[in-house]
Amino acid sequence: MSLENTLPQLDTGIRIKRADWRDLGAVRQLEEVCFPLDSWPLLEIIGILTMPGVVRLKAMDGEKTIGFVAGEYRRAEGLAWIATICVHPDERGRGVGRTLLAMCESRLRMPRVRLTVRESNAAAIEMYRQAGYTEFGRWPRYYRGGEDGLVMEKILDKRR
Ligand SMILES: CC(C)(COP(=O)(O)OP(=O)(O)OC[C@H]1O[C@@H](n2cnc3c(N)ncnc32)[C@H](O)[C@@H]1OP(=O)(O)O)[C@@H](O)C(=O)NCCC(=O)NCCS
Repeated sequence: MSLENTLPQLDTGIRIKRADWRDLGAVRQLEEVCFPLDSWPLLEIIGILTMPGVVRLKAMDGEKTIGFVAGEYRRAEGLAWIATICVHPDERGRGVGRTLLAMCESRLRMPRVRLTVRESNAAAIEMYRQAGYTEFGRWPRYYRGGEDGLVMEKILDKRR
């Protein structure tokens, strides 16, 4: 089944597709508008779009890229890490973030997935809680400006 046909929950014409280096401009623009405090430097965006061992997906509304997620394998630790997830401000609240997250998890196929989030980022924390993530730890002063990072974890396979 193609990636595009696996999204019954989005009935608005939005499609989830694999992203690659050709999405550099669109992903960079999205990161800048979605992370005014934490947007990645160009080199990191190039890295996440080109490195092996990364699941990267984009949400498209027609020709417009409205969301992006990237998840990395940390096989030595037996888990995967959501490196970034964002949805354009004009397109939020329509289930795009939730869908990108679920699709990324299912493609990562790892027993545990972790991520870090600013402790003030209520919308993202609520999305993660609803998706089954719980607080796993805290990285003091992890973010620019000195804010703590919450580490959240989702167990997908309790046997491993
Ligand atoms: C976090 C983010 C990706 C959510 O994307 P989205 O497409 O709006 O999310 P969805 O519409 O799929 O919502 C999923 C759930 O998230 C929660 N949520 C989303 N926006 C919320 C808000 N403003 N306040 C509270 N909860 C919110 C809700 O639980 C929602 O489920 P519900 O609609 O059933 O109530 C988006 O707000 C974003 O890009 N933020 C900036 C970047 C960012 O902070 N990324 C996370 C870094 S760790």
